[in-house]
Parts: sequence; structure tokens; C-alpha cells
Amino acid sequence: MEIKKVVVIGSGTMGSGIAAQLCNANIPVVLLDLTTDISEKARERILKSRPPLLIDKSKINNISIGNINEDFKEVGEADWIVEAVVERIDIKHNIYEKIFKERKSGSIVSSNTSSIPIKVLSEKLSEEEKKDFCITHFFNPVRYMDLLEIVKNENNDLNKINSLKKFCEKDLGKGTLICNDTPGFLGNRIGVYAMQVAMTEAFKMKLTIEEADAVFGRPMGIPKTGVFGLYDLIGIDLMADVLKSFIKELPENDEFQQVAKEIPLVKKLIETGYTGRKGKGGFYRMNKIDNKKVLEGINLENGDYSISKKFNLGSEKMDIVNLINRKDKYGEYAWSVISKIIKYASSLVPGITDKFNDIDEAMRLGFNWTKGPFEILKEIGVKNFFEKIDAFENNKFLEDLSKTKDENFYGERQLYTELETLGKIKPKAIKLDKNNSAEIYRFNDFNIVEFTTKANALDYDSMDSLKNATDKPLIIINEAMQFSAGVNLSYTMDFANKGDLRSIEKFVRYFQETCKHLKYSKHPVISAPSGLALGGGFEVLCQSNFVVSHTNIVVGLVETIVGLIPAGGGCKEMLWRWSQTEEAKNDPDYAPLKVFDIIGYAKTATSAIEAEPLKYLKPEDKKIMSRNSLLSISKEILENNQEFTAPKECKFKLSGKPLKEKMIKLLEKLYNDKVILDHGMEVGKKLANVLSGGETSIDKELSEDDLYKLELDAFMNLIESQKTQERIKHTLATGKPLVN
Ligand code: NAI
Repeated sequence: MEIKKVVVIGSGTMGSGIAAQLCNANIPVVLLDLTTDISEKARERILKSRPPLLIDKSKINNISIGNINEDFKEVGEADWIVEAVVERIDIKHNIYEKIFKERKSGSIVSSNTSSIPIKVLSEKLSEEEKKDFCITHFFNPVRYMDLLEIVKNENNDLNKINSLKKFCEKDLGKGTLICNDTPGFLGNRIGVYAMQVAMTEAFKMKLTIEEADAVFGRPMGIPKTGVFGLYDLIGIDLMADVLKSFIKELPENDEFQQVAKEIPLVKKLIETGYTGRKGKGGFYRMNKIDNKKVLEGINLENGDYSISKKFNLGSEKMDIVNLINRKDKYGEYAWSVISKIIKYASSLVPGITDKFNDIDEAMRLGFNWTKGPFEILKEIGVKNFFEKIDAFENNKFLEDLSKTKDENFYGERQLYTELETLGKIKPKAIKLDKNNSAEIYRFNDFNIVEFTTKANALDYDSMDSLKNATDKPLIIINEAMQFSAGVNLSYTMDFANKGDLRSIEKFVRYFQETCKHLKYSKHPVISAPSGLALGGGFEVLCQSNFVVSHTNIVVGLVETIVGLIPAGGGCKEMLWRWSQTEEAKNDPDYAPLKVFDIIGYAKTATSAIEAEPLKYLKPEDKKIMSRNSLLSISKEILENNQEFTAPKECKFKLSGKPLKEKMIKLLEKLYNDKVILDHGMEVGKKLANVLSGGETSIDKELSEDDLYKLELDAFMNLIESQKTQERIKHTLATGKPLVN
């Protein structure tokens, strides 16, 4: 079965998200709602969405819109019809009746329901119709959430379900799990339970919301929004509806019922419009005090707000074992939460799925956890777990495991996909080396470097691993969300605070040396980014020989925001790329001025497609919808490049002083218009010096080393300045830029 055209019915949050992702995959899609006006508004929303649902605005041309009365004939031409109307069974049944009258034979019909069982959805369908009907449960926002749950019914044509799964994996880039017809399927059943446990235990143990979020966050391998931050993000009212549906659907003796009970404070928040970020605020809220915006947090005991103080637990890396062994209330809270989640998840096997492995994957794909409950159990250690845990009666999984005490119960990872992913091959690869910032693996005849720091920020150790891994062809790839958010600014600031500028210089030199080494080493180097590839992360990527990029990347050189300029070869590489254009052949200043604009404004691209016109990516770089395919496509490139020869060194001809003056004129205009302030001017001048080639003239040739030197000098000059340091400190403390 080939999917060449799709109709999506219901153009709300989910329908428009699904339609946008189909557009991204270049599949023509018709979006229908009650009126064309509603679908038109949905199309506008897609175009304006932040973060963007489209990987490129032009993809919107794949959508046409209409209404269910005049345009229903479109259903007859579709290979797949997705129903994403409101969660009301009567409305859904009516729609199915219409769809099955109109559709062409053999087309697939699916519902995006989050809570209605498939047996109820399909109760009015004939046996024949049931063959082609399933649930496809996408997560919001569809472009960014990797999980898709497919729920079959007993009549399904399995070949068709499998080809739908393959399409969703490869073309739409979704990690696709097949689940049983049980409430909340896998992701929400465990994910919402976990949130509820984390919340109710925080109330019980009298933790502040900041404390709870610090524990039920990075140290557990959970996104930093924690529980209360996530509640605000999802919407406190929406969560209340989700809970009501679980209470209704689940048996009375299900453990979930214990943590789904209404909490008076939560009820009051909803009633007073505190529904989270979309409302007046939620557990956290922004308030204005003396005309300044401040973040406040709620007191769980009395509902009062006060200024939110970030709670420092001492470690932000995932470290479950140390966390649960802490002899304080945080250790106690962590163990209480995690042990309950493990108990609950394991009690549901095989009811919700016979593969516990899929539960872990659902948590990874749908909730961005680093590890799911069973992998956490493995990390804690089976023996340790059973020494610590209290009763677990009627839990067959734990009863069996307590008998075998098999530390290797886990087996392989990511069983849901046939693709050869990093997660699958890591356990089979040889770990050659490991430091605080990266790991090197050898698999067959190539190496893999995976960065391992927070947001994969880069430091000396990260460079060391890259350099040491080039004795074989190398793939730089990672499982964490970000490829790399850039150089570790705290690491750099620690040196600056001590006045140790020599160490900073040593690091930048080593960064340059490593990137140059990646580019010219004997064996090919491939970067396979997804998520953030900013600053230093981009410099690693652009000095690799090949790039296999996930379409969902945010890429760019953003150093000027913190008062610096790219100094790991970013200026040089961008100059080279732009100097290869037709325009640059006629005007030697064309490329430097373009790059001045891009780096000066710290322009970023929010997808691999947007990255190309900025030349952050090249036309030949691969742009892939399915993150799970990055490794296998990188491997293919290695196989096709066994006769690899390193590129020739680049040479540059730059105009020097006259060009620099042109750039300074541009800066002066910005300064007079108050777009930039004093330090913005300084940073701009330093960038101008690099991009114009410093003390050169157009008849002279500059080498890559000359440009590295200019970058280094500018960088060192800036990092020494008080105002750059103020910018860095401000960004580290607030996550926001400082304009000075
Ligand atoms: P929504 O309320 O944003 O959009 C529903 C859309 O359906 C509206 O545009 C409405 O005009 C349209 N509609 C209502 N009756 C219709 C009819 N007879 N024919 C055509 N269109 C009709 O709802 P949302 O959030 O997009 O949810 C849609 C489905 O996806 C629901 O089944 C929901 O349970 C499910 N879901 C929602 C998630 C979320 O995060 N919002 C996540 C996963 C699933």
C-alpha cells in the first residue's frame, strides 16, 4: 500500500499538526473541518506556529483546505483518512459513517483519539470495514514529538498496518509502537501516572515545587520542566480532563486511581483561571514587581506565590543510583516516585503490551525521558532494587524477576523498529574510551563519538574524544535531544573568573586544531545532528566531511549574542561556502558581507531545509525526516566512500581595510538607530576584522590557518572584556540575551 494522498478531518490542534507533518514529508493533504473558514484559520495557524510546525514555509503548498459538506469527495481519493475531530463518540461515529460511504476500497481510516477504545470507535463498522480501521495516536506538537501509537483491532489486515507503520516511521519520522486497546495506551498511561505520582508525593512530603522539579527532572533523565513545569506547559485544565477520563475508564482497583484524585489546590487554580502558561500562570507564574518581570512559584500548602528560587540539587546529570541512595528527603522522594513508577509499569505487562521494552520507548519518544522505567530498574540493579522495595504482590513481572534475579533481563533496546539505530548498536559496540564529556565506540570498522554533557555543551574533553577517534572513519551522533548547544560557557567563564585567560586560549586553539583535524584526516568524518547544533556544535558539523541531518535541527552561529564571535572555524567555513557562489565571483566583498550579516545577527535556521539558503547546510548534505535512520544513512555514506580522499585546503582572497570600513558603516547605522549599543558595536568591529581578512589586501592569499588566527585573536580580545563577561553571566543565569 502506497500513501500518496491523505485527508485529515478536524483541523484543530492535532489535525493541523498531523497535516503539517504530512506537508513536511511532501505528501499532498486535504484538511477538512465543519467550515472552510475553520480550516483556513488552521492553515494560517500552521504558518505562524512557534516553534514552527513546518520545516519550510513553502511546504504549506502541500495542503488544500475545505469543509466536510462540499469537499467530502476528497475522501474518495485518499489512501489514508485521519480523523482528528473533537473527542466525542457520537461525532466520530457520524464521521465514520460518511467516510466509509465515500472512501475508495482498501484505503486506511484512522482516529487520533486519545481515550476512546477502538472497540467503541469501531462498534458500528462492518467486519470488512474494520479491516482497514485503526487508531493512530500522535502527540502534540506533532512535528517535534516522536511517538506515534497505533492501536489495532482484531480484524485488521496486518500487512496494511505494517505498511502504515513503515510509512509513519520513514516518511513522517515517528517512532511507531503498536499497542493494545487499553486506556491511555502506553505513553499516557505511564507518563501521566508518573506525573501524578511525582505531584502527589511532593504534596505528601511537603516539597516545594522547585525542589520536586529539580529531583523529578534531569537527575532522573527527565526534561527539566519536571512535574509542575510540565503541568503548566500542558495546561492544568487539560490534565484534569485527562485524569477524569482515566478515572472513568480504569477499574476501581487500578493503582492509577490512587493518584488521580482531585487535589483542592489544583481545582482552585483551574477555577481562578490559573490553567498554566496559556492562562494567568499555574504552579509558576510571571509577575511584575517594580516594573520588572519575576518568576514566582506557588506554595503547595497555602496557594500563595513568592519569588521562585531555583533549587540546586548538586548534580544535573542523570544519576539515579546516587539520587535514590541520598540520605535526605530528596533521595526519599526520588525513590518513592521511581519505585512506584516501576511497580506500576511492570504490573501492566502483558496487559497493555507484552513487550516491556515498548513502554520504555514510549517514555523516551513521547515524554523525552532518557530512560524508561525498566531501563531505570536495570540501572538500579535487580538485586539492589529488591533489597530496597517493599511489597509487590500480584505483580507477575516483579515476582518472576525476584526469583531469577537476572541482572541481564533487559535484552535488546528499541525492539519496535527494524532500523539500525544508535540505541541498538551501542550495546554491541566496543566502548573504546570515555571521559566526562564524550564516549568513543568502535562498531565494525568505524568509530562513533557520542557527546554526553548537558545539552552536549563542548569542552576540552569533547574535543579530545573527537581527535582520538579519527584513527577510523568516524560518525558523530548522539541519542540525547541536542547534537550540541555549543561551547560550554560555564566552563569558559570559570577560567575567566580566575583570570586564567591562557587556559581559554589553549582550549580555543585545541578546538580549532581538532576541527581542522576532522576536516583533513585520512578517514571520512560524518556529523549526524538533530536538535540544537549551535555555535561550536555547528563548527564541528561544518568541518566534518559529510552531514546527515535530521530535519528537526536548530542550527546557527549565535556567538555574537554573548558578545563573542565564532572561533572554531565558523567564520572561516561560512566565508568559504559563500565565496563559492556565482555572485562572489563578480564581487569579492559579496561573501564576507553576507557572512557578516548572518553571524552578526546570529541568524538561526529552525530546520535542515531552512539551513540551506543560509549555507549552514549544503545541498549535498542529507536531510532526513526519520531520526532513527541517521545512523544507517551515515553508514551507507561510509560504505560508498571507501576510497575517500580528504578535501583540498581552502584559500581566501579578502579586501581587508576597505571592506572592513564598509562593515563598520553598516554598524554605525545600526548604532545610530539604537539597534545595537556600545558593546554590540565592539563585537561587530571584531567580527568585521575577521571577515575582511585583517591586515590584508585583495591580491594576497590567506590560508585557513590565517583565518583561524584572526578568529582566535578576536575571541580572546572579546572574552577579556567586562561587557562580554556580563553578557555571558546574564545568559547563564537567565537563559536570555543581554543587550549592552
Ligand atoms: P481541537 O478541539 O483542537 O480540534 C477539533 C476540531 O474538530 C475543531 O477544529 C472542530 O471544529 C473540528 N470538528 C468538530 N466536529 C467536527 C465534524 N463533525 N467534522 C469535522 N470537524 C469537526 O481538538 P484536538 O486537541 O485537535 O483533538 C482532536 C483529537 O485528537 C481528539 O480525539 C483528541 O482526543 C485527540 N488528541 C489530542 C491531543 C492534544 O494534545 N490536544 C493529543 C493526542 C490526541
